[in-house]
Amino acid sequence: MSLIDKLDALAEKARAELPQAQNAEAVEAVRISLIGRQGMLPALMKEMGKVPKEDKPATGRKLNEVKNVVESLLNDALKRVATAAKQADAIDVTLPGRQRKIGLKHPITRVIDDIVTIFRRLGFVVADGPDLEDEFHNFDALNTPKDHPSRDIKDTFYLPDGRLLRTQTSPVQIRTMENEKPPIRIIAPGRCFRRDTPDATHSMNFHQIEGLYVDKNVSLADLKAVLLEFAHEMFGKDVGIRFRPHFFPFTEPSIEYDFTCVMCKGKGCSVCKGSGWLEISGAGIVDPAVFKNVGLDADEYSGYAFGMGIERIAMLRHKIGDIRYLYENDIRFLEQF
Ligand code: DAH
Repeated sequence: MSLIDKLDALAEKARAELPQAQNAEAVEAVRISLIGRQGMLPALMKEMGKVPKEDKPATGRKLNEVKNVVESLLNDALKRVATAAKQADAIDVTLPGRQRKIGLKHPITRVIDDIVTIFRRLGFVVADGPDLEDEFHNFDALNTPKDHPSRDIKDTFYLPDGRLLRTQTSPVQIRTMENEKPPIRIIAPGRCFRRDTPDATHSMNFHQIEGLYVDKNVSLADLKAVLLEFAHEMFGKDVGIRFRPHFFPFTEPSIEYDFTCVMCKGKGCSVCKGSGWLEISGAGIVDPAVFKNVGLDADEYSGYAFGMGIERIAMLRHKIGDIRYLYENDIRFLEQF
């Protein structure tokens, strides 16, 4: 076989192999085998010396021609695999967009926001206290006797160091009065914890809003006016309010307050057990013993305080029958708000 034939065979191999190469690595492998330093072409070039003199010009031309053919096939192959790689990375503009859901406020947060907004308009400011409380703020300063059942380890979560998870937002009253001089007008939303067995209306972790107003000559009538205004703003003008005598260690007199049943508007239904009224929470006139515990003069000042269960308000507002829905984080439930 003459060198010219061998060079033709090399060109043929390039024509056969390079268009088949699938990626840059494959093209490079072919390049090395054809024209790399240990490849076919350098080996053939060494045979040039043995070619008879008269055949040299034609063989030289063939050599150049084959070189050019291989180079141009290599370039084509490289261009082709580069384009293919780019297409593989390219964005498919026909794909549907990725849907990101917009988050919603949890119904508890919304109710807190709404209650706070209403009381702010009535001149209250938001106050805050820690979830991890001490016995003084959660019980002692609130005039709770040492043997009061709410202090029992069956009802309250205690830490080994004697601190506790607050069972109510009432300690924020104490913390505020320790730090501020009257007039005081605060609302304090927050988390509370009790060792209750969870059921449709109980959760170990729930929320309250505390209200406190301390000034001169504050009366139960002031409290009633504010709670009635709140009931109107929250549930509508046709909702009324009533007080029932009750007992809390930190208020004297103490009351429980009810709103007209928001389901039946007072006609009587299963939610209000036929009474037409819904029990909301407790309130009263701040007990002088509480003022004494925070160093305020009970002869000079008077005040009212009230609590409110946020879950209860949320459940009434959205007609939710079981408190546990509020904590299960089932997206099908939460998406409805
Ligand atoms: N802290 C009470 C509770 O958890 C609710 C309460 C009653 C708060 C009377 C008050 C109040 O501020 O005056 O049951």
